[in-house]
Amino acid sequence: MNKKINKSDFKTDWSYSPAPESTDHIKIVKKNDLFINGKFMPPEKGKYFKTINPANEQKLADVAEADKSDVDKAVKAARKAYDKVWSKMDPSERGKYIYRIARLIQERAREFSVIETMDGGKPIRESRDIDIPLVSAHFFYYAGWADKLSYAFPGKQAKPIGVAGQIIPWNFPLLMAAWKLAPALATGNTVVLKPAETTPLTAMKLAEIIQEADLPPGVVNIINGDGKTGRAIVEHEDINKIAFTGSTDVGKMIMKSVAGTGKKYTLELGGKAANIIFEDAAIDQAVEGIIDGIFFNQGHVCCAGSRLFVQESVADTVISKLKDRMESLIVGDPLDKNTDIGAINSKMQLEKIKMYVDIGQKEGGSVHQSSCGLPEKGYWHAPTLFTDVSQSHRIVQEEIFGPVLAIQTFRTVDEVIAKANNTPFGLSGGVWTDKGSKIFQVSKSIRAGVLWANTFNKFDPTSPFGGYKESGMGREGGLEGLMPYVNLV
Ligand code: NAI
Ligand code: MG
Repeated sequence: MNKKINKSDFKTDWSYSPAPESTDHIKIVKKNDLFINGKFMPPEKGKYFKTINPANEQKLADVAEADKSDVDKAVKAARKAYDKVWSKMDPSERGKYIYRIARLIQERAREFSVIETMDGGKPIRESRDIDIPLVSAHFFYYAGWADKLSYAFPGKQAKPIGVAGQIIPWNFPLLMAAWKLAPALATGNTVVLKPAETTPLTAMKLAEIIQEADLPPGVVNIINGDGKTGRAIVEHEDINKIAFTGSTDVGKMIMKSVAGTGKKYTLELGGKAANIIFEDAAIDQAVEGIIDGIFFNQGHVCCAGSRLFVQESVADTVISKLKDRMESLIVGDPLDKNTDIGAINSKMQLEKIKMYVDIGQKEGGSVHQSSCGLPEKGYWHAPTLFTDVSQSHRIVQEEIFGPVLAIQTFRTVDEVIAKANNTPFGLSGGVWTDKGSKIFQVSKSIRAGVLWANTFNKFDPTSPFGGYKESGMGREGGLEGLMPYVNLV
């Protein structure tokens, strides 16, 4: 008798066996001190906090909490290194140190990827193939500029500005450290860097590399702590520049705090990007781009394509294909090489995402989630989309920073441009179409720092990144990324 084949048979046939990345060779320091003046030292007050693995809620390590006096110590070390060594050093020598850091990261890429995934919850596929390779690429790229600043700024002399205070978020921990450190060092500045409190571990590994690279003591200081430590850095009077990536709320506080002090600053804040699909787009490719746009890194991405606009004539097709594709996403163990969607970074962030999903439903949106099961321990959220929402819905206006997509439709180019710009943010956007002319029209009409055409979430150290409006100010990456770290004379 012929066996009847039904859909569920295929599902079993095509499911993946577990393929966990091994953690055997990973050494996580159990008690992480502050890295000041080239040495690891305990905090003045002796306070430590723990960092956990959000995929299983297990403690990974203790981390020193820096208070004002530790911040002061770090700034003094950075000032001394600036005055006596780093700003005076021949630029080509500075470049050699940065190249060395880049190479050491490359050599230890696997270790960095595994720790990044354990501490923050992102899939190993992403930390291994995206985060860590981009980290070394950034150091390589800016190492190259160190002795070529006269070509970057023809006819001018580019002078360093002094000590930079750099505060970074938890969504791309080591990558954000690289975005901040590499241009600062290449231009002759010294640094006090503060990682985010849920993801300090790769930055502490970077401190080991900085020691190994023999960077002069005090050129890079890495201290941990929460918002209080961040504020102490921002308010320290001997800091010349603040570089911040994080929430718009904290960005606004920083602006107020540095107003009138003469401190330079760059802010890379939130986003609510429009991802626009025209009827003439390659639909299957666009669906991949939508998935990547909103579900990459669990949606903890400032430039995530969280507002989807689909042209009405293809809306049913796109949404149906999107739902099918969501079913095939693998949610679970971030260390498994097959995993597409890892753990939500923290309990706090998970609660925030759930709150928005509630708000979306209460305001009348229709919710759809993929039917995947979620692990019991740890922080997890299923891939989610909303239809039946409009411009005034909070889930369309506010940054959720999770795997939640809000879908709207449009009929004309002018309409979608108006809708896309109806946001307080202006960080990024995407456009999918077969017509080059439409790409040009849309990308020049959307007020956002980065516009992707027929792709999404592509990063490159040579390309400047940054926002308009409440998404911040200043650019990181590329030649433009040197500007915030120099005075031109
Ligand atoms: P946050 O802005 O509080 O944290 C980012 C960094 O700033 C961390 O290192 C934190 O310790 C530090 N910080 C906090 N308060 C500070 C202060 N007063 N002065 C100086 N530094 C301070 O972001 P949080 O609370 O982790 O996340 C809240 C929301 O912010 C997220 O749900 C998301 O919407 C958004 N966010 C956006 C990011 C982006 O890349 N655009 C990154 C992280 C969060
Ligand atoms: Mg952690």
